[in-house]
Amino acid sequence: MHQALAPRLLKSNQFISLTRYLSTSQPTYSYSSLNHDDKADRSLHSSHPPLLPSSPHLPPQFIDSANPSNYDENFQRNDVEICEESGVKRGLIKGKEYTNLSSKYLDSISTPHPISCTPQNLKTFQPPSLSLWTGSTLPISSLTLDYSSVVDPSSSSATSLALSHLYTHGLLLLKNSPPTESSIYNLSLSFTGPSIVFNPPPPPSVYTSNSGPLRTLYGSTWSTTTNSIQGSNTSTSDSAYSQSSLPLHTDNTYFNTPPGLQIFGMVRPAEDGSGRSTYLDGFKAASKLREICPQSFNILTKTIFKYRYIDDITGWHLEGCGPIIEVDNYSGEVKGIRHNDLDRVGCLPDAGCVDVSSFYNEVNSALQKWDDIVNDEENKFVIGLKEGDCVVVYNRRVMHGRESFRLREGEEGRSIVGCYTGADELESRWRCLFTK
Ligand SMILES: [Fe+2]
Repeated sequence: MHQALAPRLLKSNQFISLTRYLSTSQPTYSYSSLNHDDKADRSLHSSHPPLLPSSPHLPPQFIDSANPSNYDENFQRNDVEICEESGVKRGLIKGKEYTNLSSKYLDSISTPHPISCTPQNLKTFQPPSLSLWTGSTLPISSLTLDYSSVVDPSSSSATSLALSHLYTHGLLLLKNSPPTESSIYNLSLSFTGPSIVFNPPPPPSVYTSNSGPLRTLYGSTWSTTTNSIQGSNTSTSDSAYSQSSLPLHTDNTYFNTPPGLQIFGMVRPAEDGSGRSTYLDGFKAASKLREICPQSFNILTKTIFKYRYIDDITGWHLEGCGPIIEVDNYSGEVKGIRHNDLDRVGCLPDAGCVDVSSFYNEVNSALQKWDDIVNDEENKFVIGLKEGDCVVVYNRRVMHGRESFRLREGEEGRSIVGCYTGADELESRWRCLFTK
């Protein structure tokens, strides 16, 4: 049947297979049971080519919970009955009528950056497709924008384009970035805080936040020259403050929630051109691992590693944990990478594990296959950043590293500025941008 969905007509043990009828200009979905063997059934991730051979069906209970009629004009649940005096929850109000759900709505509630409930006007999350890349396929010229256009509040289209590049490729190169921390701060505003820019700014009672850099142990924005950091009471024990090479990694793996963006501005490169930057698409690496060894992929999505950072000089002891490859629990799609060999501490088997040796052998084997992909030169994008270049990477997807650099006698030193931004803020900006 082609009419709009009516989930409560289903038995609770039935799952929904949604078939898109490509011949109609307004796609609709139909029901069928879980046992329905129709090869034409389509994944709900129509805008995201899944990394799995097929995506699971949405259970009716989930669609039931996403019924827009259960939400008020402020997008809060209106089916929860609460005692007016005590605030005690009494239960759920039953008997809501169902609104017809469009196919786009169903697409939007099962994407890698999902909106669990959209408003009653059924605006939907319609992001562009993800583009997985290797060193030779990264379209760096089309991902290059001018710094001034992205930070200009009146040029919302350039900021939107920058956010779109970060969504599709996880990487953005900006030219002509001023060599100051304030320029990095201003750039961070383009990717954080509210998506609506008021000009002139509204009074303070309305203007709630302009957000900006994520505050970390390295400060808010940071500036380094060779082996020194400008500023006080910020940590410099990280290997990034040396002249050594840095293996590919994501930053702040020892945070419970690692940053969304790493913004890195080149103020002054080494005069001899050494110290080139390296980048790698972690989603592509995960896709390759899943393809060549599904068992290893599975191990790295399930094994929880601890990461740690200790700086005795300034007094920091940070610990976070998570799998190297984070996948959506339901769809299995890759949604995050947490990888740093230098900060990773270890992992433990389940308490009930009967063969501990096998556990560690399998984990080490999976890590070796992962390392083989990460170390493959073909997968790496290498660039010698020039003065005024600024690279922005989605830190939950794209790894970064650096080749070693050398300084000539009397040379002023390699100098950079940078900052991080919050992951939740970035995802908020993406939802606002792509919800139509
Ligand atoms: Fe780093």
